Amino acid sequence: MTTQRLPMQGQRILLGISGGIAAYKTVDLARKLVQEGAQVRCVLTESATHFVSATALQAVTGVAVRHSLWDEGAEAAMSHIELARWADTLLIAPATANTLAKLAQGIADDLLTTLALATRANLVLAPAMNGDMWRHPATQANLALLQQRGARVLDPDSGCLACGEVDVGRMQEPQVIVDRLSGSRSEQMLVGKRVLITAGPTVEDIDPVRFIANRSSGKMGYAFAQAARDLGADVVLVSGPTALPDPVGVTTIRVRSALQMFEAVQTHFVGIDFMIAAAAVADYRVEQVASSKLKKQGDGVLTLTLMQNPDIVAWAAAQPNRGKVIAFAAETENLIAHAQEKLQRKGVDAVLANSVADGAAFDQAQNQLFLISADGVHEFPLTHKSQLAQQVLAHLASTYFNCGCLR
Ligand code: C5P
Repeated sequence: MTTQRLPMQGQRILLGISGGIAAYKTVDLARKLVQEGAQVRCVLTESATHFVSATALQAVTGVAVRHSLWDEGAEAAMSHIELARWADTLLIAPATANTLAKLAQGIADDLLTTLALATRANLVLAPAMNGDMWRHPATQANLALLQQRGARVLDPDSGCLACGEVDVGRMQEPQVIVDRLSGSRSEQMLVGKRVLITAGPTVEDIDPVRFIANRSSGKMGYAFAQAARDLGADVVLVSGPTALPDPVGVTTIRVRSALQMFEAVQTHFVGIDFMIAAAAVADYRVEQVASSKLKKQGDGVLTLTLMQNPDIVAWAAAQPNRGKVIAFAAETENLIAHAQEKLQRKGVDAVLANSVADGAAFDQAQNQLFLISADGVHEFPLTHKSQLAQQVLAHLASTYFNCGCLR
């Protein structure tokens, strides 16, 4: 009889649970990690003990749960330093805003934060909190700092929060966390691949103070850049003006106009494995950009002559010996039909179509996409953009590079 090796066999996971309502899901999370073959030990913060029972966690992991530095019996059995050394991965789920702040500052005022400072294990964070707490510049700065130091952040999902609001801030579902931790195959499926992503709007100047632009926030393209990075790819992100920070670990090139974006894409196109054109590139630019501010005309009419911009993704698709090229289609009606027409006209390998009717997609945290290619139509249901980008990349990697995938 042969015993099948489980995906997480041999992995030692220290599950740190901080005090958010999502802590109630950690019994399921711990159980799923154990089922994948991992050895799991749980540490609770004092606040977490109000949301989840140590007895339940002990029952699913088979190991006593710790929540205090001052438990003499537990320290005698395995000191907190030994526990910190034991782990390969310190997974903090849920990671509250308070715990993230303490980790960022190196504060060690309880068992969990002391372990976080003492361990050499990979740090994986699954934040969960109210949407305003998540967006607060302090929380975002703490996360950026932790990421710079190598922590992996499993961005929270959007949906109904415990506070009753529908917003970003839900901890990723236990199964998603397990998939992201266990998938050494899927996690690394883009190692050695070079990915070029365009994102955001382009801005076409009229004069020194006015311009033509569009409502793209860049969120979808940035989510693709981060997801490709997380899957091991070398990523170049060519971005029009956005309010988003440069993603850590991604070569980000900031441009303003379509012509500048075209130049940057031409510079970085050679040798890429695939390009995802998520940018909302202006189709037209002003022929003559005025060097000084235009004055109001007496006759009440101002005529601007617009010139067509180069179609960047069509140029990419026309290059010989190229990698795969995927365009976007944002449509208000006849989504699939327009996307199929775009697939032909631009000569790309696939089109990712999203509806922008009634303000959908633009600047939203969530999106729904249809992948249209010669193979037909594949739907990716409405979900947080980071999750969506990961699902689409997993699908593309398995289709084009025959890699194992996370679907
Ligand atoms: O033709 P349309 O603008 O609707 O096509 C959208 C797709 O084409 C997107 O992938 C966008 O990034 C790309 N595009 C481009 N250069 C342009 C216009 C659009 O790369 N000038």
